[in-house]
Amino acid sequence: MMTTHTALTVHQIARPTGFPTGAEFTFTETPVPAPAPGQALVENLYWSVDPYHREQMDGGWALNSPLEGRTIGRVLTSRDAGLAEGDLVFHRAGWRTHALVTSDTDGTRRLRAHPGVPLHAHLSILGGTGLTAYAALTRTLRLQSGEDLFVSAAAGGVGTAAGRIARLLGAGRIVGSVGSPAKVGYLTGTVGYDAAFDYHDGPVAELLAKAAPSGIDAYVDNVGGGHLEGAITSLREGGRIAWVGAIAQYNAAEPPPAPRNLFDVVGKALRLEGVLVRNHRSLQGEFEDFLVPHLQSGAAVPDVTIIEGFERIVDAFLGMLRGENTGKMLVARSGMGTTVP
Ligand SMILES: NC(=O)c1ccc[n+]([C@@H]2O[C@H](COP(=O)([O-])OP(=O)(O)OC[C@H]3O[C@@H](n4cnc5c(N)ncnc54)[C@H](OP(=O)(O)O)[C@@H]3O)[C@@H](O)[C@H]2O)c1
Repeated sequence: MMTTHTALTVHQIARPTGFPTGAEFTFTETPVPAPAPGQALVENLYWSVDPYHREQMDGGWALNSPLEGRTIGRVLTSRDAGLAEGDLVFHRAGWRTHALVTSDTDGTRRLRAHPGVPLHAHLSILGGTGLTAYAALTRTLRLQSGEDLFVSAAAGGVGTAAGRIARLLGAGRIVGSVGSPAKVGYLTGTVGYDAAFDYHDGPVAELLAKAAPSGIDAYVDNVGGGHLEGAITSLREGGRIAWVGAIAQYNAAEPPPAPRNLFDVVGKALRLEGVLVRNHRSLQGEFEDFLVPHLQSGAAVPDVTIIEGFERIVDAFLGMLRGENTGKMLVARSGMGTTVP
């Protein structure tokens, strides 16, 4: 196994105003740390860069300190009885090449091996991203067979997972909104959406009404703002909204005003409920049992954009905020590519 004596860690050194430029981050070099009793040293292989990291930049992350982020790595040496050399682990000490972890602490867990499923799926459709979609569909929306669904930021990590999982659950018409014509083609040609539109082409309410002329039963909201207003217009009586995220406002100085038609929640007896994946961690086993056979048969596929090279992690993060990803944006250690190690 190739090892190195130097560890690289990303620090945030300044708070952004509006859209980050990248100058808010710096890379620091230290010797690779040695594990204390109860710890394992992990070499990280794949990193997730996430929209919530943008929210963390405003105050959640301490300046000049290692950052939190979801990561997959391989144990190099272990003084933790729960982890052995060579084990593949999920943990949250990301944005660095090497980490000291302790099993069953801060979400650190050894990964279940699933033959035929790429390792990076544990950070995309099979990880927290897919679990968010699964919890939104099965627990918040309680999606029924044949029901029509709308998903925003539909070509991203949660959006592609939501479309694929909804199809497996027997959804009716699935419509997505995205930021480019290429992504419209990706959704309908690859992911299995029935229809999609580019939200730059007009008011979402009008574009959605055209794409789902007879209305929708359920909505996975990743965007907020005008998307939420448009979905409320198209929802049928008794419809449900799973509010997962509000990417339209993370870089904005002021959040958008509340939907002007919010009172239709009463008029149509709608249900709007927030989704927090951390409240659904107990579903991970059920979710893997459900999804893994579909991944192994090819009925479901992880949608990912993988940027190779840890030194490009900031570029990958900014690119994700700009919409340069289809599927989950991930970073791979150089040489990992998209293959199963
Ligand atoms: N509640 C939870 O527990 C939880 C867990 C995971 C994720 N989330 C939320 O779920 C959403 C999706 O997360 P993800 O990790 O899957 O990211 P993602 O969708 O893979 O990446 C973000 C996407 O947002 C789109 N976007 C950027 N600015 C936008 C804007 N102003 N309006 C509309 N779309 C915009 C871009 O695609 P386009 O090219 O289509 O614009 C970009 O690809 C985020 O809101 C995130 O905060 C919540």
